[in-house]
Amino acid sequence: MAPSVLISAAELQSAVRRLAGEISAAYEDGVVLVAVLKGSIPFMADMLRAMTVVPLVDFMSISSYAPGSGRVRIIKDIDVDVSGRDVVIVEDIVDTGLTLTYLRGELLRRDARSVAACTLLDRTVRRIVPTPVEFVGFTIDDHYVLGYGLDYAERYRNLDRVITGDLAVLQNDPDAYVEILYTG
Ligand code: IMP
Repeated sequence: MAPSVLISAAELQSAVRRLAGEISAAYEDGVVLVAVLKGSIPFMADMLRAMTVVPLVDFMSISSYAPGSGRVRIIKDIDVDVSGRDVVIVEDIVDTGLTLTYLRGELLRRDARSVAACTLLDRTVRRIVPTPVEFVGFTIDDHYVLGYGLDYAERYRNLDRVITGDLAVLQNDPDAYVEILYTG
């Protein structure tokens, strides 16, 4: 099955501007944006430039102990002290909700004044842990998605659009879509 465009570059940019406006309006007194590496990089970079307040920016990287185990650990931590500050976690996609639930708990344990979440994509149908997501770009159906930060085996992050991929095809050959997506 050929990959198809789910969200175009223009649709992404318009959602990013909307989200930047919503966050700027909600946090006039400042906010700490904590982006979750690596998938949120293009989203974070575009959103930052569309914001009208001056946020503090930091990054966190986490990894699962085992897929679906619900247990995650911090690989790279933030440097900013979040105590007493309003924090927004910036995610590429919220799927089961396990990552977001863990991060929110961790930041609250560090005495953040508030912790909200902003995700480009919300795949609510696969949620295991109910978790609020205050700022949502797009709610999507149960497709595996690639592009605009999202990867399969580290490929496809640098596409300017979000496409749907067939996991069976990608498992067989992670580079299966490279030629069709990057040429012509
Ligand atoms: P959660 O903990 O299940 O909500 O997983 C969130 C993380 O899984 C995201 O930050 C992504 O890194 C990854 N992920 C989930 N679904 C996809 C997908 O469709 N494409 C690429 N990465 C995904």
